[in-house]
Amino acid sequence: MALKITVIGTGYLGATHAAAMAELGFEVLGLDVVPEKIEMLAGGRVPMYEPGLEELLARHVAGIEGSSGRLRFTTSWEEAGAFGDVHFVCVNTPQKHGEYACDMSYVDAAFASLAGVVRDGALVVGKSTVPVGSAQRLAGVLPEGVELAWNPEFLREGFAVQDTLHPDRIVVGVAEGVRGERAEKLLREVYAVPVAEGSPFVVTDYPTAELVKTSANSFLATKISFINAMAEVCEAAGGDVAKLAEAIGHDERIGNKFLRAGIGFGGGCLPKDIRAFMARAGELGADQALTFLREIDSINMRRRASMVEMAREALGGGFLGKRVAVLGATFKPDSDDVRDSPALNVAGQIHLQGGQVTVYDPKGMDNARRLFPTLAYAPTALDAVRGADVVLHLTEWREFRDALDPAELAEVVSSAVILDGRNALDAGRWREAGWTYRAMGRPRA
Ligand code: UDX
Repeated sequence: MALKITVIGTGYLGATHAAAMAELGFEVLGLDVVPEKIEMLAGGRVPMYEPGLEELLARHVAGIEGSSGRLRFTTSWEEAGAFGDVHFVCVNTPQKHGEYACDMSYVDAAFASLAGVVRDGALVVGKSTVPVGSAQRLAGVLPEGVELAWNPEFLREGFAVQDTLHPDRIVVGVAEGVRGERAEKLLREVYAVPVAEGSPFVVTDYPTAELVKTSANSFLATKISFINAMAEVCEAAGGDVAKLAEAIGHDERIGNKFLRAGIGFGGGCLPKDIRAFMARAGELGADQALTFLREIDSINMRRRASMVEMAREALGGGFLGKRVAVLGATFKPDSDDVRDSPALNVAGQIHLQGGQVTVYDPKGMDNARRLFPTLAYAPTALDAVRGADVVLHLTEWREFRDALDPAELAEVVSSAVILDGRNALDAGRWREAGWTYRAMGRPRA
């Protein structure tokens, strides 16, 4: 009989994982402690913007016409415990307030609740990003007959469905001996389809699996801060960081991905993951190994300040009484996520320094309004730039690159100056339409 799967925590990760498991043919029960979230998902609606996820839910959520009916949702731990052969724990581990370490309280609460209801012989699989050593500790919370595996998730927001159904790799950390072998066997069954389609399946011990996730994110953050450091040098020396990235990217050992200079990385993962990694290394007495991450973090934060300075300079030295249009609020395109968004951070700093900031974002307006209620928001990009003394392009939505007409925008602004904080617009097009176009790490035309 096919395995029955529960997914504990139905945020970006859990909701996508639950839908993907149903797509792979399993009976799935998603659990969350927030009833409103469960109500939405049970109706086939997604509490966030993630391309393709609503369509995937519609294919499987029970009660939706034409669906497979394989995916249901609940708030009941008893129901989840009785149902699942395999339980995926997908709750979040945000940064602790005022500290580098991550907050494990959601993971701990999920394991405590699950421990009280899980069936003998079931497998619990941690997917949350946790400090190394957590799996070993959490295995001790579960009843004797219940096995634990750690299976980190590498999905990117905006590509969550694709990344979950066709992962670059599947990493599974298991206990030693027979128990670990059983966990591996079950997970090979769960992931049989992606493995058959070519996803590598890497089996490790617990600490290695946990470290794969944090080290992968540290590497990505390092790549971005590296190119942003090069942008700083290009600015000082008169070089062009976009050309530099293109040229070094041709070296296959370096690769051309994740080399876009700009206002840096944000979101719910990279910033907090590198900080939590440093905090954990400190506890383990290995802090020296990761002191470079402190530099990665500060290069990243400096980019935001540098964007503010670029805007100040473009405005002749001050923000007071100036109108600043901000295109983009989310931390990246194709997401409505504004957590630690560089775009909103820049907008907020300029607002605090007296600028009149108006923000437009294709999908992130509601979340941005909640987080920064004092900023002004416009219903379209054209409305946002009306009367602007400077326009800041801070999240590289396709809509900004492809659908905006620089000539039309030039007619409504007070001053046709655009600063590209993502190095993503076609400089030539904007300049032809009469704009002063500047980007980070590139020479001024
Ligand atoms: C990241 C990891 O990529 C993913 O594997 C992990 O599971 C979760 O964390 P995500 O947070 O969705 O995913 O975003 P990602 O696409 O990695 O981008 C992170 C940030 O880096 C964004 O703010 C993005 O704008 C920025 N970025 C990315 C750059 O500034 N330059 C680049 O070249 C690439």
